[in-house]
Order: sequence, then structure tokens, then C-alpha cells
Amino acid sequence: MLKLCVLVSGGGTNLQAIIDNIANGIIPDTEIVGVLSNNRKAFALERAKNHGIPAVCVSPKDYPTRDLFYQAFMETVDRIDPDLIVLAGFLVAIPAPMVQKYQRRIINIHPSLIPSFCGVGYYGLRVHQAALERGVKITGATVHFVDEGTDTGEILMQKAVEVQDKDTPETLQKRVMEEAEWKILPQVIAMAANGTLKIGERT
Ligand code: GAR
Repeated sequence: MLKLCVLVSGGGTNLQAIIDNIANGIIPDTEIVGVLSNNRKAFALERAKNHGIPAVCVSPKDYPTRDLFYQAFMETVDRIDPDLIVLAGFLVAIPAPMVQKYQRRIINIHPSLIPSFCGVGYYGLRVHQAALERGVKITGATVHFVDEGTDTGEILMQKAVEVQDKDTPETLQKRVMEEAEWKILPQVIAMAANGTLKIGERT
């Protein structure tokens, strides 16, 4: 049984896609053992609770320094004790000691075709705004391992999505989610669950 910890900051539609694909068997032998948010108001926390999944918020607002926040955050993840950590719209950088501890055991979904429109400052709607400003005709989504950089880890799966003339950042975001993100993130988790994707050993 693959044990997942899903990290979220917002609406949680990618979390929902994981929940649904575990329920319908497309992701085999997998359990979400914890959902963790940095944002108390994240609707993703409600989604987790609605499905009986333990959900917790560790907010930087509750700690006097960034270091103390990161310490509490890492302790919480360690307590959840997952095989694989999934960043599903998680907008906090993962601290280097955690990346080192969980080598090839943290994956992220990014809403563009990396290496386009990624790195520091590119998240959520900003990614789609930048794609529209540049005038690309194809965009998409990428699932990758998380390393010490921002969106620099090994690419695991990508899916292209066409940009339409009348797109706004919002309509493009919706299409990229529906046509790419909600498909490739569950597919990569399924590969980890069935052994097709080799993930890091527990240390
Ligand atoms: C998704 O589009 C995800 O790809 C993006 O945030 C959104 C979260 O939506 N992540 C990033 O931009 C990370 N750099 P969700 O909360 O509905 O899953």
C-alpha cells in the first residue's frame, strides 16, 4: 500500500482528482494518510475532511520565524510518515533538508510545459497570464520530482493543451486543469503505486 501525504494551499481540485482516482481504482493500492496546508482557509482541507482523510494546517502566521515554521512543517510531515509526498497546488518552497531526506519521494504538479513559465514567481494564474502575454499556442502541465531548485527536478510526465484565441488566464487555467493536470498527476501516482516509477527508498 502506497502511503501519500498531499500538500495543498488552495482549492484542492488536484487533491480531489487523486481522491477520485483512488476510489475508481485507476490509482491502485494507495491511501492518502494525511493532507497538510499552510493556509487555514484552503478549501482543500474541507475536501479532505469530507472524505475522512486526516487534514491539518501548519500556518507560517503561527510562528515567529520562517525557520520555526519550517521546523513544525517538517515534523508534521515526518509524523504523517508517507512513502510519497505530492505537492498539489502547494505554494511554499520545500526546505532543502526535507528535499534531501525525501529524495525522489516528492512530486509536484506545475501548470505549464517546463521549462517554459516556471521558476520563482510562476504559480497559479500568473503562469497562465505569462503564457498568454507571450502568445504561445500550446501550453500544458508537468509532473516532476522536487529537488533543491524551483521547478528544476526530473520531469516525469507532461501533457500539452491548446491555447484558444479568446482565452483569459482563468479559462486557460480551467482547460489546463481539466485536460492535463487532473489526468497526469493521478497517472504518475499510479505508476509509483504499481512500481513502474521507481521512487526513493525510505531512509
Ligand atoms: C494548480 O493549477 C497547480 O498546477 C498550481 O496551482 C493550482 C492549484 O489548484 N500549482 C502551481 O502553480 C505550483 N507552482 P488546486 O488547488 O485546485 O489543485
